[in-house]
Amino acid sequence: MPGPGAFLVGDEEKREVAEVMESGYLSRYGREDDSRFKRKVVTLEQRFAERIGTKYAVAVNGGTGAVMASLVALGVGPGVEVLVPGYTYVASISAVLAVGGIPVLTEIDDSLTMDPADIEPKISAKTRIIMPVHMLGNPADMERIMIIAKKRKLLVLEDCCQGLGARYKGQALGSIGRIGAFSLNINKTITSGDGGIVVTSDKKLYERAFAFHDQGHKPLRLGVEIGKRSLIGISLRMNELTAAFALGQLKKLDRILGLLKEKKKRFKERVAAAGIPGMGFRKINDLEECATLLTVLFEDKGTAARVAKALGTKTVSESGWHVYNHMEQILALSDEQGKKRYWKHMLPRTDDILARAINLSIGVVDPGLGAGFGINILASEEEIESQAELFIKTVETAVR
Ligand SMILES: Cc1ncc(COP(=O)(O)O)c(C=O)c1O
Repeated sequence: MPGPGAFLVGDEEKREVAEVMESGYLSRYGREDDSRFKRKVVTLEQRFAERIGTKYAVAVNGGTGAVMASLVALGVGPGVEVLVPGYTYVASISAVLAVGGIPVLTEIDDSLTMDPADIEPKISAKTRIIMPVHMLGNPADMERIMIIAKKRKLLVLEDCCQGLGARYKGQALGSIGRIGAFSLNINKTITSGDGGIVVTSDKKLYERAFAFHDQGHKPLRLGVEIGKRSLIGISLRMNELTAAFALGQLKKLDRILGLLKEKKKRFKERVAAAGIPGMGFRKINDLEECATLLTVLFEDKGTAARVAKALGTKTVSESGWHVYNHMEQILALSDEQGKKRYWKHMLPRTDDILARAINLSIGVVDPGLGAGFGINILASEEEIESQAELFIKTVETAVR
């Protein structure tokens, strides 16, 4: 099941994509002197940067590519340690490994984002980057994270793949750290099927991210530019069709966020009004979150497991995505001495929180997230009411 943007695909996307098809220019590079060339990728980069409030953006082929390009821009290479929360999509971790870095997993707190209290204990002489992930649309505790980063002279890369449109203390996610990475895959707030975007206000980082995404070239090149390439890049380019679709979706971002917030508010208020003992909600670090999910937190794991089963869904700890305990490809890794770097249950506070948590869908309907029960972005008042009532009744029965 897709994310909120995919529910609202319509004429805007069709028009944008048709313009590209009529132009005949499919690549981000076209003849600048030909008025038929619509420059959709460059336009998307400009609009996205404006939206986030950064000077620059680089459109890439996906969120994983956006995280990789951001890491390379920040100088991550072999042996450099990057702090990443243990509750995140595997891409945050695999992107670090793919550029030669070493992911170091931190605990989460009851916002389900990186626990600032676990950052300093995980810092070593090799640590250079903190990568908070704005999980399920909830901003990480950026205030505390930025204070620690400044004190310990570390750089912050925001993994915003799940946080497009959210703000923290008035600032758009992606504009708080040195660089930010977004995804436009099918589960995200807005989508172009696949796609990603790097944002930064630092010209050097922009040029490095751009170079990594396009074989070492300088931004907006007009040809091969021999002699100007300063780093080894790969190809992560976005094409004109994808950018056109994304431009159509970007126009709907505020509408999507408005719908999510309104529906989440109704659903949450209804559930909260029932005053279920032993159940609360995850901590939301800023009310300007994306509102893609409503996460309930039980005091007790057994109750959470019973409720999840009765709802036909799973606790977050048992869900498929995002839980480090389920990432066998990461758990298999060892260091140079053959010592395991990661193992099951290495983050006991994270395990405890996730075993007490159930994600209820608001805009992202995905059993892989544990969000197999809830509503969607198009849910009517009656549907919200009936799902909230069903949830409350199910919990009351399970608690008894
Ligand atoms: C937190 C996080 N980081 C990175 C990614 C990778 O994005 P993509 O699937 O576009 O490569 C995702 C996508 O699901 C994500 O949720």
